[in-house]
Amino acid sequence: MSLSRRDFLHLSAVAGLSLALPACGGRRTYAANEPVRLGFVGFRSRGNDLLKSFRAVPGVQVVALCDVDPEVLGKRVKEAEALGEKPFATHDARRLFERADVDAVVIATPNHTHAVLASWAMAAGKDVYLEKPVSHDVDEGIRLLAAQQRSGRIVAAGTQNRSDVGVRAAFTELHAGKFGAIRAVRGFCFRDHKTIGKADAPIKPPSGLNYDLWLGPAADLPLMRPQFHYDWHWIWNTGNGDLGNQGPHELDMACWALGDPGYPLAAVGIGGRFDWHDAGETANLMTAWYRFANGIPLVFEVRNLPPKNKESGAWHGLNGPAITVECAGGELRAQRGGAAFYDPSGKLVQEWKGDGGATHYANFIDALRVGDPSLLRAPLAKSVVTAGLAHLGNASLRLGWAGGAREAMAAATGRPLLGEHVERMLALLKDYGTDLAAEPMSCGPELTIDPRTGFVSGGHAPRANELLSRQPRPGWQA
Ligand SMILES: NC(=O)c1ccc[n+]([C@@H]2O[C@H](COP(=O)([O-])OP(=O)(O)OC[C@H]3O[C@@H](n4cnc5c(N)ncnc54)[C@H](O)[C@@H]3O)[C@@H](O)[C@H]2O)c1
Repeated sequence: MSLSRRDFLHLSAVAGLSLALPACGGRRTYAANEPVRLGFVGFRSRGNDLLKSFRAVPGVQVVALCDVDPEVLGKRVKEAEALGEKPFATHDARRLFERADVDAVVIATPNHTHAVLASWAMAAGKDVYLEKPVSHDVDEGIRLLAAQQRSGRIVAAGTQNRSDVGVRAAFTELHAGKFGAIRAVRGFCFRDHKTIGKADAPIKPPSGLNYDLWLGPAADLPLMRPQFHYDWHWIWNTGNGDLGNQGPHELDMACWALGDPGYPLAAVGIGGRFDWHDAGETANLMTAWYRFANGIPLVFEVRNLPPKNKESGAWHGLNGPAITVECAGGELRAQRGGAAFYDPSGKLVQEWKGDGGATHYANFIDALRVGDPSLLRAPLAKSVVTAGLAHLGNASLRLGWAGGAREAMAAATGRPLLGEHVERMLALLKDYGTDLAAEPMSCGPELTIDPRTGFVSGGHAPRANELLSRQPRPGWQA
């Protein structure tokens, strides 16, 4: 990407913000007993959970269903009909967006179509609940925000931890200064996975699936993964690895703990995809590191490679997705389902029981009913940044040089906390007997970030910004 293109994107983002129209004419007002009519796009797995969660919110009606896979669509239509619903069904989201009887849409397609579908929905006058990561790259995040500002629509992100009652209560006390000044935040995306395998020849999409619509802006590349659905997460063309899959939940909690400071000034990614020798491209073991303007470091460990030693693989007893906030007075540990504060000796001082963010869906509907985006606990703007953090960590990793233990440790030098987590990755790889000469670590450079846009400035800018934006297939620009 040329500098002038980046400048243009920045200018258009700024223009989008400053020329924003006041919140949309055309917003429906809801009488107390009137339903909010939802259309759903993509529901093989997460979208099906969302169907159930939104159905449970009083006053919500499911009126339209869209999935490009006829098998998935047919199954969900049958289930809806069994519940007495009569949804409009289509494989083309544009047909759903143009319907006057749809007030808002819920999008749970793969990452690479989030931004374009959401921006089309907004342009058609729909409010949007958009799954995380809200963008597949930094450029899409800018475009999403500009589309929202132009349309004045209400857009919530699927980062439901923001609604967890336990984490909310703990963070209220954190932000009131009860635990002392924040010194550092660590995030953990510990989720065991297996190799996805590798096909001998390119696979075909499921029969009848509209692959053109599934691909959207992504390049039409040979599919070497044996399983079509879900495993797109591990291919850069369509996914963002686990830093951009589970990661946005904990990156989002980290930003929330820090008071949502916006983009960091620097990002580094170190790690790789080890042991599996499969069709996947994204890291199965990596540490990302960020430095914010206030000087506080955020270190973020992603581990899909199951540790041979569960005990040493854990962090302070945590062995699933979580964050820890290191404060002057002790350590706050938070995860979906609650939080706990420990004093410096490791003694449990206080616990907050959570609910997994159960009211997140009602929060979106409440905001629509009164037409007030400020009610949203997970507004688009915050999720654009947390998705951006994942994209920046991945970009550094992808630009890294191949190295062994010494080079990986050198890449961590001068970056608070990073060395500890590189050491943990090296210990895990030692347990696997990994030969780093044959399977090297990717030691990413420190990327300097323009906090106004999330793009990279300085020496690494041209190559990094190529990775942080894409030339979409014709007709698929967000
Ligand atoms: N918030 C959460 O806790 C949470 C949990 C899981 C997944 N997710 C997110 O939800 C999204 C979906 O994940 P998944 O595991 O269900 O993926 P999946 O691949 O299993 O399902 C995606 C579905 O979208 C359909 N689809 C793809 N492109 C489409 C298009 N253009 N129009 C209509 N339908 C289309 C597919 O046919 C499929 O049915 C991902 O972005 C993921 O990150 C969020």
